[in-house]
Amino acid sequence: TSNAMWGGRFAAGPDAIMEAINASIGFDQRMAAQDIAGSRAHAAMLAATGIVSDNDAEAMREGLLTVLSEIETGKFEFSTALEDIHMNVEARLKDLIGEAAGRLHTGRSRNDQVATDFRLWVRDQVDAVDGALIALMRALLGQAEAGADWVMPGFTHLQVAQPVTWGHHMMAYVEMLGRDLSRFRDARARMNECPLGAAALAGTSFPIDREMTARELGFDRPCANSLDAVSDRDFALEFLGAASICAMHLSRLAEELVIWSSAQFRFVKMSDRWSTGSSIMPQKRNPDAAELLRAKIGRIFGANVALMTVMKGLPLTYSKDMQEDKEQVFDAADNLMLGLAAMAGMVGDMQANRAALEAAAATGFSTATDLADWLVRALDMPFRDAHHVTGSLVALAESRGCDLPDLTLADMQSVHEAITGDVFSVLGVANSVASRVSYGGTAPLRVREQVARWKAVLE
Ligand code: ARG
Repeated sequence: TSNAMWGGRFAAGPDAIMEAINASIGFDQRMAAQDIAGSRAHAAMLAATGIVSDNDAEAMREGLLTVLSEIETGKFEFSTALEDIHMNVEARLKDLIGEAAGRLHTGRSRNDQVATDFRLWVRDQVDAVDGALIALMRALLGQAEAGADWVMPGFTHLQVAQPVTWGHHMMAYVEMLGRDLSRFRDARARMNECPLGAAALAGTSFPIDREMTARELGFDRPCANSLDAVSDRDFALEFLGAASICAMHLSRLAEELVIWSSAQFRFVKMSDRWSTGSSIMPQKRNPDAAELLRAKIGRIFGANVALMTVMKGLPLTYSKDMQEDKEQVFDAADNLMLGLAAMAGMVGDMQANRAALEAAAATGFSTATDLADWLVRALDMPFRDAHHVTGSLVALAESRGCDLPDLTLADMQSVHEAITGDVFSVLGVANSVASRVSYGGTAPLRVREQVARWKAVLE
């Protein structure tokens, strides 16, 4: 059999298993649009520098558009024998325009070609993630605004700690996602250098214009070192790193939704659109989307570890190992986008149960810290002593099976005689949250400020 691509050097074609392990067309066809954009920019540059004729370049650029539309309309026949998207596109271009197609690869290699295509693809994903993150942040802002003064328990160790506001809790996630947004944007700025023209690894003797192709493709500048340009995938790893951290945030929120929607908490009701039933238990209303989101995060972490591992031992420059970069990034990007969209839907639809939140906020001696602070302020007690006195009061209430506000003044004074009736004013949860006006604190006033600031940022 003859060899479809390397007929000059090879007499025989590859073994079927060789073809199977070698081919990437099954997945890298997702970069078709980027590959064609890169080739069109390269063709225009080849003509502008006089390396190919204007006629040939025009034929290439037109032909490439035809190939793109064939791919987009599903008419294109991908061939595994042609290994990857780059060879598939070029071969089809040859069918369409003949000889001139053979000049397209002048001063270029698949090494700089694939590095360019993949950067373009990842850059597009960063932009998509940017929009999806903002949509989720807006959904959280909506919740925060509606419930800026709804009181709920704040937890540490998943034990009731102090009362906080629903809005404050929602805004905590807005802060996290805001940092995710800036991480993706940082990564985008760093990755926005163009590898095209690095050729195989050493550059080329043709008088190419790398500034021109870089500009044409929306890059800030060409990569400065041709070896680096074809051999690093740190841009993909930065994407996966930012995606992993963002996914971790999504997973924590998903976990909270699972807990909060349980019968024991009843903090939120997920909408029908984001819940599922049970085939046997008629009462069930399961938060499957949140659970799946929590689980899919593992694939994103896995992709990050997988690609780090692929890259860590590779000598410069290109090695075929690097072909394994794409499926990891594709899968992670798909799952991140799905997760962001599902979370935005769930958060936008969910209904916080204000009464249940408030009732829960009052349990677990959640205002014990307020009581201790009162002892410091009213009786000028050192905080450590106040902590001890309050601990004794909590123990007393616990032994009575009641909450702190249910103790009588006489009960209180049996622990510390100087306590006055004024203490009861700080034991209510609404007063507690309203008093926490320190910068970044949970007071409704502060929450509304946070909401206003983020709304302006996201304008
Ligand atoms: N399909 C290859 C990849 O994804 C393209 C680059 C091939 N380069 C080479 N020297 N074989 O990495």
